[in-house]
Amino acid sequence: MNFKLTEKKINDIEADLEVIVVVGEDLDHRFVKDRELLEKVAFKGGQDEVYYLPERDRVYVGVESIGGENMRTAIGVLARRVRTLKYKNLKIASYMNHPKCTAVLRGVVEGFILGSYSFEKYKSQKSKSHLKEIIISLEDYREFELNLESCESALEKSKIIAEATNFTRDIVNTPPEDFYPKVMAKVAKDIAKEGGLECRVLKQKDIREESMNALLAVSRASSRKPRVIHLSYKPKNPKAVISLVGKGLTYDSGGLSLKPSDFMVTMKLDKSGASAVLGVMKAISKLNLPVEVHGFIGAVENMIGGNAYKPDDVLVAKNGKTIEVRNTDAEGRLVLADVLSFAQQEVDADYIFDMATLTGASVVAVGNYTSTVMGFSDEVKDMVIQASKRGGEFMTKLDFNRYLKKSLKSNIADICNISNTRYGGAITAGMFLSEFIEEDNRDKWAHIDIAGPAFVEHEWGENPAGATGVGVRSICRVIELLAKRNIECN
Ligand code: BES
Ligand code: ZN
Ligand code: ZN
Repeated sequence: MNFKLTEKKINDIEADLEVIVVVGEDLDHRFVKDRELLEKVAFKGGQDEVYYLPERDRVYVGVESIGGENMRTAIGVLARRVRTLKYKNLKIASYMNHPKCTAVLRGVVEGFILGSYSFEKYKSQKSKSHLKEIIISLEDYREFELNLESCESALEKSKIIAEATNFTRDIVNTPPEDFYPKVMAKVAKDIAKEGGLECRVLKQKDIREESMNALLAVSRASSRKPRVIHLSYKPKNPKAVISLVGKGLTYDSGGLSLKPSDFMVTMKLDKSGASAVLGVMKAISKLNLPVEVHGFIGAVENMIGGNAYKPDDVLVAKNGKTIEVRNTDAEGRLVLADVLSFAQQEVDADYIFDMATLTGASVVAVGNYTSTVMGFSDEVKDMVIQASKRGGEFMTKLDFNRYLKKSLKSNIADICNISNTRYGGAITAGMFLSEFIEEDNRDKWAHIDIAGPAFVEHEWGENPAGATGVGVRSICRVIELLAKRNIECN
């Protein structure tokens, strides 16, 4: 999809289709050309309400008020509606909420790219999208004077991030038969080649040498051998160094603690954390930001078989801690325990973020659309949440507490892989991970449980049914925030 910014007035632009945004149900604005007709069909212009006028080649969409988030979802819904229509290009004016802040433009661009996504790799009949060009006029709804150069740069950033999100969606949507650890390693290598990143892939033998025994136990029953991946982007004079760690369960059957069949369907989603890391790494070199970023991935399949790891086993993790396995379906934390240790061994980062579809409990706690953020430092958690808001993702904090921590006690090992209480499962999983964060790194780390929004079986806003690519937008915004920070202020 091509975007063109122009200083031409909206009415002077030739285009096949015109998009008009109705703000706050105000049908009197000069941009609204079909007031009577819209009133006749009872179109009010509520948030995300779309009305297409084929005879006039116009399409209307409503936003409650002008803002990045509102615009992203409204344009996302509109883009999905017009995707298969036979228009080659469309035009839209600018709807800014400040002459210098490009947040709304970013929402518009991301809305178009994210809303137009569809996953049709496995359909014999593929739908065709004709729309090739989006022309954005700098003529503004409130007549702000906009700066072409800063708009161009915002557009470029948004394009990179939204395309990386779609890339992540493709990976997550791909079935486990076609996407297993070796494939993930190949994708990582391709990203490295394309973006000039470094990439190291650890195969089973190397993983064994690194004593990542918890990860190895999870992978043991699968015919697909595990991989640990380390991608790095190292710009000159970085303002910060961050490590991203992704849960890459290319399939989670539950292992011997087998999932009931209804719960097993969609478990290809369990590679969403790793896929988001891949998406960020794909975006990062193009964004050209002065932040050193390392992506670590534990790519593993959790299956059953004669050599499967068992409830009752005791594993010795990479950091030497012993773990009593009481449920083989709580496998993500075992994989992450070792990959977090590995990441800390390899890189002395200023920030460590892990992303994982870790617990159903996170979804129970906050619903399908929101990720939960955990860790010891409020500053770090708040930074992630602030960035997620800018990126158009929902994230909220879940606090650790020492009473829940006790529920992870084991009689025979250092810790259990599940808690002994039914409640607070997202937090106890996060507290389990915290056991694998070194003392010096406690205030640098945040754990993001993306189990809810990673894969939703219906469309919502700019997200399609299926994989959403959650995490890519938020982490890219974190990196943008860190890139802007003055090192003396840190
Ligand atoms: N991958 C699942 C978590 C999950 C569930 C992600 C639903 C997305 C949607 C994870 O490995 C898992 O099975 N967790 C268990 C933990 C339990 C055994 C303590 C869960 O959440 O039920
Ligand atoms: Zn599981
Ligand atoms: Zn899992």
